[in-house]
Amino acid sequence: MPDDIKESIDDILGNEVIKERLEDFFKALKNYKNIKDQLKNARLSPSLTVLLYGPPGTGKTSLTRAFSKQYQIPLCVVESDRLVSPLLGDTIKNIRNAVELSAEIAKQNDAFILFFDEIDAIGSERSNIHEVGEIKRAVISFLQVIDRVTYEGIPLAIFGATNHQGQLDSAIWRRFMFHLKFDFPDYKLRKLIIESFVTRIKDAKIGVDNSILKRLDEEFEFFNSLALDLKKKLGRDVSEFNENVFLKEIQKKSKDGLLKLTIGYSGSDIERGTNVALFKSISAELLTYEIFYNSLKLVGGTAIHVGTQDTLSGEKIEDDKRRNAKNGRSLPPEI
Ligand SMILES: Nc1ncnc2c1ncn2[C@@H]1O[C@H](COP(=O)(O)OP(=O)(O)O)[C@@H](O)[C@H]1O
Ligand SMILES: [Mg+2]
Repeated sequence: MPDDIKESIDDILGNEVIKERLEDFFKALKNYKNIKDQLKNARLSPSLTVLLYGPPGTGKTSLTRAFSKQYQIPLCVVESDRLVSPLLGDTIKNIRNAVELSAEIAKQNDAFILFFDEIDAIGSERSNIHEVGEIKRAVISFLQVIDRVTYEGIPLAIFGATNHQGQLDSAIWRRFMFHLKFDFPDYKLRKLIIESFVTRIKDAKIGVDNSILKRLDEEFEFFNSLALDLKKKLGRDVSEFNENVFLKEIQKKSKDGLLKLTIGYSGSDIERGTNVALFKSISAELLTYEIFYNSLKLVGGTAIHVGTQDTLSGEKIEDDKRRNAKNGRSLPPEI
């Protein structure tokens, strides 16, 4: 229920474009009951569906929860692999039951959100359904229940989240109206995330060495100057992830520091590192730069496991190509 949710939208830093899209979506959802007949009469039937994709720990679930709280719309998060059953026909039954129950709740509540986490578990090569026919039937059934909800004008929003967008069945991908891409935070966003966690430690009345934020500022200025130099040289903006050239400059010219260390860290990795540092600083009674740096280093970044942003986007392109080749169709544009 919304009031049980602790996250707020502002807790997830950055991601401004995604937040704007979700803002529009939730306003429409909140108002859906009043506008649905109007839409139907005009033969407009937008489906209330949003797909969130990108590496783990980048805020997909938290941000949805935060919006559910902000707009006071109850939410149910389903771990999709728990719907998947090796028994013939059971996966389909489970999907139907989840959606039908949610549709009932939506009708009673004015609106409801059903959030399929790890939605690629339904109908991908990764799923543990072994029979190909059964995978196809599960996907078709999923699409049918979405269509029915849309057709009947039920105020049920269906969200899907995945870290394996390349493995998601393309028919499922296309059925979602919004595709919102989450990324590893760039150095500007990492600075904000680090600062916000350090501030929380300060708020907990644990001493924080001033050198942490000072050195972070200095490193940030240095990263900015590298970016500016490159911009002058290349005549265009460079991003940390889309261009190896910026990463190479950082590796070559920048000293070790928090921003350099956390390349390829998700917000969640930084949070875990902060918590490790927190325990250490409770006993040491002061959070020093060294404690913070070493704790972040200890937890490591997610990109090491799933590939850097660079290889990730490369992988996505390859996956999309493969999927398109398989289906003979092209993907809708990212919104
Ligand atoms: N952009 C961000 N700003 C602040 N905190 C973040 C950010 N991204 C992730 N986090 C932290 O990581 C936690 C886990 O994120 P989560 O929503 O579970 O990620 P996902 O669903 O994408 O795997 C969040 O609750 C938050 O504390
Ligand atoms: Mg999640």
